[in-house]
Amino acid sequence: MMQASKVTPKVVAELNRQANQELSAGHSYRALSLWCEDQNFKGFARFFAKQAGEENVHAGKITAHLVDRGVLPELAAIPAPKNNFKSLLEAAQHAQAMEHSNTQGINALYEAALAAKDYPAQVLMHWFINEQVEEEAWSLEMVERVQAANCAGGFSDLDRHIERYLEKPKGEGLAKDE
Ligand SMILES: [Fe+2]
Ligand SMILES: [Fe+2]
Repeated sequence: MMQASKVTPKVVAELNRQANQELSAGHSYRALSLWCEDQNFKGFARFFAKQAGEENVHAGKITAHLVDRGVLPELAAIPAPKNNFKSLLEAAQHAQAMEHSNTQGINALYEAALAAKDYPAQVLMHWFINEQVEEEAWSLEMVERVQAANCAGGFSDLDRHIERYLEKPKGEGLAKDE
């Protein structure tokens, strides 16, 4: 960070806010993973642990962008996550609510980047906007599948298959990336 940054203060503030929101989501997914493990929902626990890792990668994409543009990122205190849930449905709904608020955060950042004509931040946000389409899709599917599994046997069967259910179908022409 040797020269004055050309990123506007508003966009800097939004990038910092979103980086911290991603870290906070990662913290919440770790708590969800631990709760699921404690309840013997090992499939959900693995799925949420993977999400925790991904949210940390997302935070890293934003902080790397700031550093590359001459701005030292400002990490904030991360609030305690929700650690306890009444049911698997409440846990799934919590994940879905987090993804909704993450989408709102990304949209707010994108609007700030549009207003500032900040093209690099806009392009960075294109990746995140796409990512949120996937995150919203799996979190809705998770809630729907938990709602549909309404007996103990149904829950353990769902737990056994949840990671595969929420995966994107693989195959020629099916995956968006690769
Ligand atoms: Fe994220
Ligand atoms: Fe996410």
